[in-house]
Amino acid sequence: MNATLLTQSKSTQPMITQSTLTQPEASLSQPTLSLRAVSKTYGDGDGTVTALHPTTLDVRPGELVAVSGPSGSGKSTFLALAGALLRPTGGQVLIAGQDVTALPAAALPAFRLKHLGFVLQSSNLIPYLTVREQLTLVTHLAGQDARAGQARADDLLGLLGLGDRAGHYPAALSGGQRQRVAVARALMNDPQLILADEPTASLDGPRGREVVQMLAQQVRERGRAAVMVTHDDRVLDLCDRVVHIVDGRVN
Ligand SMILES: Nc1ncnc2c1ncn2[C@@H]1O[C@H](COP(=O)(O)OP(=O)(O)OP(=O)(O)O)[C@@H](O)[C@H]1O
Ligand SMILES: [Mg+2]
Repeated sequence: MNATLLTQSKSTQPMITQSTLTQPEASLSQPTLSLRAVSKTYGDGDGTVTALHPTTLDVRPGELVAVSGPSGSGKSTFLALAGALLRPTGGQVLIAGQDVTALPAAALPAFRLKHLGFVLQSSNLIPYLTVREQLTLVTHLAGQDARAGQARADDLLGLLGLGDRAGHYPAALSGGQRQRVAVARALMNDPQLILADEPTASLDGPRGREVVQMLAQQVRERGRAAVMVTHDDRVLDLCDRVVHIVDGRVN
């Protein structure tokens, strides 16, 4: 991991990082996420539910896209397909130029670790790890240099206003701080694509906004792409686009 990845870009251009330079297929002009006629049907026989009808959508570097819709409309299904957590019934999902629907199941965890960051409704922090350790665990899982990981964790925590909480356990944090740690953790591997499912659901208005502002800032400054499922109308103005899903159909 290169410490220069953490340098904030002052220009409006997406920052060129080592990882984009070493991955020609992930050029900044092509979408980070492409769904091509992606559909998902659960179950078989009479009990089938089409949670997502064929959907085509691109998310480009520097874009934060919100996904909204009523309960049961297919938002989590959409996000799971975009994050290669679920295989589509039809269509293709491309992440950073790679058709993940063509990858064998055994290759997916390593692919996700390298390219994706997830933020979920509950922060899913590990109770017996400190804030810094929640982040350096990612470095450890990726088999990367521990010292560079520590430095990156401290930089990210500083950036997200958590510098003075690095040695605390999750139980000693507020809900908003926990969610910010979850955002920092999702950014640890410098992912091309960040996927968030209701990241503000457990927060009050101002705290929820803060978390989304941080996500938006990271996306724009680093030229990353993000998709965020949300019911929270108060954060939609922070997003570049809003995709509505009703009964498994994207508007
Ligand atoms: N594993 C599953 N097996 C069968 N049906 C499922 C499964 N997961 C989801 N569904 C169904 O697919 C549809 C879409 O579900 P999904 O979880 O994507 O909705 P959602 O928009 O995220 O809802 P919420 O806002 O309540 O989280 C629903 O009808 C749901 O019951
Ligand atoms: Mg859901």
